Amino acid sequence: MPSTVSMDLARRALTRYGERGTDQADAPMTNPVSAYLDPARYAHEIEHCFKRRPMALALSLELAKPGDYRAVTVLETPVLIVRGKDGQARAFLNVCRHRGAPLCDEGTGSAQRFSCPYHAWAYDAEGALTAMYGEATFGDINREDYALKPLPCAEAAGMVWVCLTPGLDFDIDDWLGGMRAELETLKLDQWHIHEVRDLPGPGWKVVWDGYLEAYHHNTLHKDTVGKFTVGNLVVHDTYGPHQRITFGRRSLKELAAQPEAEWTPDEHIRLIHSVFPNLSISGVLGDHCLVSQLFPGPKPDTTITRQYVLAAKEPETPEEIAATEGFSDIVLRAVRDEDYDMGYKIQRGLKSGANTTFTYGRNEPGLHHYHRMVAELGGWELGGQ
Ligand code: FES
Ligand SMILES: [Fe+2]
Repeated sequence: MPSTVSMDLARRALTRYGERGTDQADAPMTNPVSAYLDPARYAHEIEHCFKRRPMALALSLELAKPGDYRAVTVLETPVLIVRGKDGQARAFLNVCRHRGAPLCDEGTGSAQRFSCPYHAWAYDAEGALTAMYGEATFGDINREDYALKPLPCAEAAGMVWVCLTPGLDFDIDDWLGGMRAELETLKLDQWHIHEVRDLPGPGWKVVWDGYLEAYHHNTLHKDTVGKFTVGNLVVHDTYGPHQRITFGRRSLKELAAQPEAEWTPDEHIRLIHSVFPNLSISGVLGDHCLVSQLFPGPKPDTTITRQYVLAAKEPETPEEIAATEGFSDIVLRAVRDEDYDMGYKIQRGLKSGANTTFTYGRNEPGLHHYHRMVAELGGWELGGQ
């Protein structure tokens, strides 16, 4: 039985298809190009839209067992996420409390304790300082004062959410709102991680705009993912700052000839769950899923995107392996060789003065919502010069 959500989305997409239309914003919207370039604005937005918000910094899948960890530097903040013996995922600054060495190298792994490579202070998976080399010679200190510095952290919908600002606690239900139930339908804790890779890219907003619309699919992606989707058709829903964007697959039109009782709607639509400010989860082809997370660089013109290629189960047969490799390859080509290649070219022209504002069409409602949220959280006016 298809879910009522899928049936409803397929109905809405089919209606738009029949109209040769799309969900639309009320009117085109402008945003100053300086919003893509200005370093002071950038620093402010990184603080208010990223560092003070919960971000999904690990998949629960990466931390399956107690002791499993992921160490990652995000926006110049070194983070250690680790599952404790009690099963709870916690996040800490990956910084030794003695004299600041990183406790472990970036990457994933499993450890019962984290021993600092500088002077061998050791911490457990709950962040407690459990051993000090040469303790008798060091002098009296209260070990409890030297626990790893925790970061606010919660696990929900198959992801571990972390705020990079110590002490800025959050309620993940408040933050995700209605998006939490949508994310839970993806069952992200039940997939197989096939590949994880980091892609360098141009600036944050140039890149992210491409994750929010289908207007470019029939042109830029005509030889890759655009072969499977209806260009310039989106069904658009918002959940606070977050969004769900539904694309139609090329087969969508077949539904018009079938009674609804026979519909298998999930085969004819493609959902993008876009979690503010930088997470996009996209079920693209059958049993595969792409999780993309965008991390702005130190300046407005660079980013790193972490891509997780997920398969419904570990591919075993030659056909399954070929299908998963094929998915991984097509999304890599679409994103790196098409979206980001175009993004670099856009980035190079941003300062040319050809545009003082960018205009987002009525058919790009995802961009309207995103840039409104950035402006709102950053305290900016929209639409000026
Ligand atoms: S810096 Fe870690 S033990 Fe000295
Ligand atoms: Fe694209």
